Amino acid sequence: MNISERVNNMQASPIRRLIPYAEKAKKRGIKVLHLNIGQPDIKTPQIYFDYIKNYSHNIDSYSHSAGIVELREKFCEFYNYYDVNLSSDEIVITQGGSEAIIMSLSVIADPGDEVLVVEPFYANYKGFAGMVNVNLVPVSTTPEAGYKMPEIIDFENKITEKTRAILFSNPCNPTGAVYSKNEIERILKLAKKYNLWIICDEVYREFVFDNLEPFSILSFGDYSDRIIMIDSISKRYSACGARVGLLATKNKDFHREVIKIAQARLSPSTLPQIGTIGLLSLGREYINNIKKEYQYRRDIVYEELNKVDGLYFKKPKGAFYVSVLLPVDDSEKFVKWLLTDFNVNGYTTMVAPLSGFYVAKDSGKREVRVAYVLDDEKIKLASSILAKGLIEYDKLTKEEKLINV
Ligand SMILES: Cc1ncc(COP(=O)(O)O)c(C=O)c1O
Repeated sequence: MNISERVNNMQASPIRRLIPYAEKAKKRGIKVLHLNIGQPDIKTPQIYFDYIKNYSHNIDSYSHSAGIVELREKFCEFYNYYDVNLSSDEIVITQGGSEAIIMSLSVIADPGDEVLVVEPFYANYKGFAGMVNVNLVPVSTTPEAGYKMPEIIDFENKITEKTRAILFSNPCNPTGAVYSKNEIERILKLAKKYNLWIICDEVYREFVFDNLEPFSILSFGDYSDRIIMIDSISKRYSACGARVGLLATKNKDFHREVIKIAQARLSPSTLPQIGTIGLLSLGREYINNIKKEYQYRRDIVYEELNKVDGLYFKKPKGAFYVSVLLPVDDSEKFVKWLLTDFNVNGYTTMVAPLSGFYVAKDSGKREVRVAYVLDDEKIKLASSILAKGLIEYDKLTKEEKLINV
């Protein structure tokens, strides 16, 4: 029977691809410190579970296709803090930010259309684009430049008559770069000039460090008719399993069309939405504390990685990731080797090879993403394992390094 080209062409998640090797290591009794995935170790606030426990309906029914109205209203209050005025009918609650991006691409692009994406980018964008047969066209950033936003001319050079949108995350997964209001405004002007959509993924919005102030792209009111903002509770409230995200837009045409898709899949899960109403009552104090925790970890990871010879990276300003250039030819092989052939007193670590975060196969081959989602002691231990691992790996012959991934 046939398997579609669509899925044949999709890559397995680069973040999860090496997990079987981690599982085998664990079976051998090795403890693996996971700095490879964006699953925070911070507890989901109790109020999330309490709201679900206290839900008194005796049928777990569908919700409104755009999500429970009370939840959407709560999100509107949440965005007021960023000088963003949304009404509940400008928000669609989705199964995580992931579904919001898939829906957005489905609405704005036809098969074969192109979306410019700031590269390296959240690896699953490739999967999302693949599902709807949209081609991602990379506009690259580099480790040497601290992954700063490309120049406008770099975007312009990639625009064709098939270009429909520009997609990026701010703060950026996987680089930890944070784009300023000026940089965002330049992109918005460009989008206006070429009549493009902007899909701005703000799932890490609040995690910005060194006194940077978080903002939302929707605060640029003049451009709001071309903005689709993506959000999620996964990271902010450490509630990845809830699968609650949203898209927000002021564009009525987009909203009318995206609702068709939202209705076709009936509704997002009801109970996690109830829990999220609880989370949104937590206020800024909760968010500020979490942000402080990540800034603390960022500082530790920065300090520890600085002790490791041969690494190249700049201090990230946001999210909970840092992308690092390693002194190896192929970071995926090195990451695999850490799992199959290396340990320090029964511990090893796992980071994410960055090649899967690029469109072109050979890009990012020497980079990895480190997610600082573990506590300080574990981060220190994992960094020292990485350092020792690099020293040992360097001693291997070329042939020994050529293990297949
Ligand atoms: C930049 C970015 N966008 C979207 C997502 C998807 O998040 P979720 O579907 O859990 O809301 C992630 C998850 O890691 C992410 O890093």
